[in-house]
Amino acid sequence: MEKKNLIIIFISTCSLFLFLVLVNSGASSGLPEDELAAYREVSDFVDENEECFRCHGESKFQLVDNTTDRILTRQVCADHMILREEYYGSNHKNFSCFDCHSAEFLTFPHPLDIRLEYQWNCLDCHGDDEDYAQYQFEKIEEEYLESIHPLANPDEFSCWKCHHPHSYHISIRNTENLRATISYDNAICLSCHADFDQFQLLTDREGINIIQTHDWLPNQALHFQSVRCIECHTQISDSILVAHMVLPKEQAVQNCSECHSSDSRLMATLYKFQSKEARNKYGFFNAVVMNEAYVIGANRNYYLNVISLVIFGLVFAGLAIHTLARIFNKV
Ligand code: HEC
Ligand code: HEC
Ligand code: HEC
Ligand code: HEC
Ligand code: HEC
Ligand code: HEC
Ligand code: HEC
Repeated sequence: MEKKNLIIIFISTCSLFLFLVLVNSGASSGLPEDELAAYREVSDFVDENEECFRCHGESKFQLVDNTTDRILTRQVCADHMILREEYYGSNHKNFSCFDCHSAEFLTFPHPLDIRLEYQWNCLDCHGDDEDYAQYQFEKIEEEYLESIHPLANPDEFSCWKCHHPHSYHISIRNTENLRATISYDNAICLSCHADFDQFQLLTDREGINIIQTHDWLPNQALHFQSVRCIECHTQISDSILVAHMVLPKEQAVQNCSECHSSDSRLMATLYKFQSKEARNKYGFFNAVVMNEAYVIGANRNYYLNVISLVIFGLVFAGLAIHTLARIFNKV
């Protein structure tokens, strides 16, 4: 009887071992040493992270059976791929994967319970922290909670959906290239609004064709390069740099003169940071719009007005003299 039990235990241990060997997987790591060295400059966890990057940083990984040497190559789908370059350029570059994910992810296939674990949210770490007071996380969360996305899907929408955990970095706050910031910020919205695969994970609604729904806007391509989606889709916020209350579509800005006028709303949104700095430096409000972008109607500058009046006057005088000269010549 006892012997039989031992045999059963032996057999099951063997098959468990075989199973583990079967699912044990290897991936072609082989990242050049100089690339790793560059990442070590910004992170203390490069080697640790490679445990995960050997699959999640590659487009494919391998399932290896060590007993038979059989190897199967499998794809890592785009959704599960993390670019090292983006990760080590993000705000949280000096994080280990295990700061946010369970160490049990070292097991593959990853078990179900750790997949369903609650994730930290931004406020868990940044809330009530003086070091980050300038960002006003609490105020941002307040606005976010009243915006359409969490209202439509409170369970699954979160700050992480726009601030991708492995790539997000601040941009507008210290932008040196406004166009690049605009394109970075718009890419956040477009990661769902131009990708139905992502969009449909959060709603049963039909896909929204952004180009069609904005075809009332002339020169759409230029507009999307020159303003961010949030300029038209959020309520202006006096206290935070990036307004976070995304309003229902009926309340989006459609009126051209909200931007194309001397008190353009862009001063309180896109150019907020720059216009403040410019005001401090030069003492007048139009500085940024004058320097960085030409917005029809918004560029009402006293000196330009005077100069154009003078030019107009000169042209008029020239015409008058010319006409008089012709009349006298005829006579
Ligand atoms: C052998 C390759 C491999 C390694 C090593 C690996 N993963 Fe994965 N991981 C995958 C694949 C393939 C998927 C997608 C298929 C799936 O969900 O099982 C995945 C999915 C995930 C998911 C998404 C789970 C879900 O259901 O949403 C997370 C999170 C994850 N891995 C984290 C990690 C972390 C953290 C590490 C490092 C400790 C790691 N993985 C190591 C291959 C790997
Ligand atoms: C600052 C916290 C944080 C760090 C650090 C972090 N993750 Fe994540 N990760 C998350 C969150 C949050 C999610 C869920 C994202 C969501 O809900 O959209 C996630 C999701 C994932 C997924 C599922 C697919 C996806 O991208 O949504 C994978 C795979 C993954 N992480 C792997 C890793 C690996 C590998 C590392 C280390 C190189 C890492 N994570 C570091 C917070 C983090
Ligand atoms: C697990 C804790 C944790 C979570 C969750 C977290 N952060 Fe952070 N975050 C940090 C730490 C720590 C730093 C400082 C990193 C450093 O200096 O290397 C940081 C840095 C930042 C910075 C840059 C600050 C600066 O002045 O350089 C921003 C912005 C930021 N986080 C935003 C967010 C947002 C948005 C979320 C949610 C989507 C979030 N964080 C979630 C811990 C966290
Ligand atoms: C619908 C998309 C979206 C959601 C959801 C979202 N954000 Fe943002 N957030 C943005 C965009 C776009 C920016 C501008 C990024 C940039 O240029 O720096 C931003 C910027 C920020 C910044 C930097 C602001 C600064 O002053 O530099 C912080 C901090 C932040 N968000 C925190 C949060 C927190 C916390 C949540 C959840 C309560 C959240 N965000 C949810 C889109 C979003
Ligand atoms: C993670 C995916 C995701 C991101 C990122 C995202 N959205 Fe959405 N958005 C959705 C989904 C899903 C809906 C549909 C919600 C519903 O009604 O079920 C939606 C709906 C909307 C609507 C329509 C609301 C209405 O009244 O019908 C607007 C406007 C909108 N989003 C703007 C934005 C802007 C601006 C950004 C960037 C700052 C953004 N979204 C980023 C997923 C996203
Ligand atoms: C110049 C202002 C403006 C800009 C910039 C803008 N939108 Fe809109 N958007 C609107 C208006 C106005 C509507 C409502 C149109 C309607 O109801 O016919 C709208 C509608 C939408 C809808 C809802 C469409 C529907 O049928 O449910 C979404 C989603 C959306 N915009 C996303 C975006 C995204 C993403 C960007 C950035 C790439 C963006 N918008 C840029 C003004 C703007
Ligand atoms: C959210 C602010 C905003 C709104 C709303 C807006 N615009 Fe614009 N518009 C801009 C900006 C910024 C530019 C780009 C200026 C530049 O960089 O050349 C621009 C450029 C233009 C141009 C191109 C000028 C050129 O140099 O070719 C035209 C035409 C125009 N807008 C007309 C309109 C009309 C008509 C509407 C209303 C249906 C409208 N805009 C609504 C901000 C806005």
